[in-house]
Amino acid sequence: MRRAKISIIGAGNVGATCAHWCAAAELGDVVLLDVPQTENMPKGKALDLMQASPIMGYDSAVSGTNDYADTANSDVVVITAGIARKPGMSRDDLLSTNAKIVTSVAEQVKRTSPNAVVIVVSNPLDAMVQRAFQVLGFPSHRVIGQAGVLDTARFRTFIAMELGVSVEDVSAMLMGGHGDTMVPIASCTSVGGIPVSQLIPDARMAEIVQRTRDGGAEIVSLLKTGSAYYAPAAATAQMVEAIVRDKKRLVPVAALCDKEYGVGGYYVGVPVVLGSKGVEKIIELSLTDSEKAAFAKSVDAVKSLVASMETLLKA
Ligand code: LAC
Repeated sequence: MRRAKISIIGAGNVGATCAHWCAAAELGDVVLLDVPQTENMPKGKALDLMQASPIMGYDSAVSGTNDYADTANSDVVVITAGIARKPGMSRDDLLSTNAKIVTSVAEQVKRTSPNAVVIVVSNPLDAMVQRAFQVLGFPSHRVIGQAGVLDTARFRTFIAMELGVSVEDVSAMLMGGHGDTMVPIASCTSVGGIPVSQLIPDARMAEIVQRTRDGGAEIVSLLKTGSAYYAPAAATAQMVEAIVRDKKRLVPVAALCDKEYGVGGYYVGVPVVLGSKGVEKIIELSLTDSEKAAFAKSVDAVKSLVASMETLLKA
């Protein structure tokens, strides 16, 4: 049987760490690509990962390249390309620069891997996945954004730390954009099957929800030189696994919602069934009034981010 081909665009911290998790889990053969200016860096990281394989015991082939021809006919393409915000840069600088980078990556992916499922990881996520979808012209079920798996993992970690229990027993859901307005859904969060409301008082839960929303910023403030990458890469690898192994995982991803939740054609984080076709189903939850209001606020934030991106791309 042919192994899955997984191409990761962007060989920075998130891309290379994602290659590591994917190879170690033998999800398929991995191609790590970065722009020609990075010269042999992707090849060096790939060779290093190959040399770890006899020790860690994986048979995935990992290669590095600057040439999209080497990514041809991938089953899954992960887009991590883009710059991280540096001191003195505005949000619009990041939005405009990364929208241009994602545009050019999507043009190449459209040409070289027309049947792939594409996972966008670049930030600001909700706008970047919308842009990739516009340029790729693939059916929306094959273009998705990674955010919810990461944000939910942060939420689960904090709940497990609070209760002193295994993270494996914490099951949670989170919706909306990948930003300050994300909506952890406490009513869909349980520990060993027990609703979390029976274990953590509301006031403390509100603090945990806020820490989850600030999860990315907390890491940035600790690292000082960049943003998180182990957990974002692990979250992406879990999505790759769901696709290449047709796992039908029920996880939150940024999916194109039209009639769903009345969103009207934008990418937002919602629970989906994730399998070999990409998004196989969007699950419509019945939310409490306050969750509905928080979700609507998050969708509005996503819409204004996309509007700013479109203005900047026209400029
Ligand atoms: C984060 C960034 C990477 O949430 O989106 O850590």
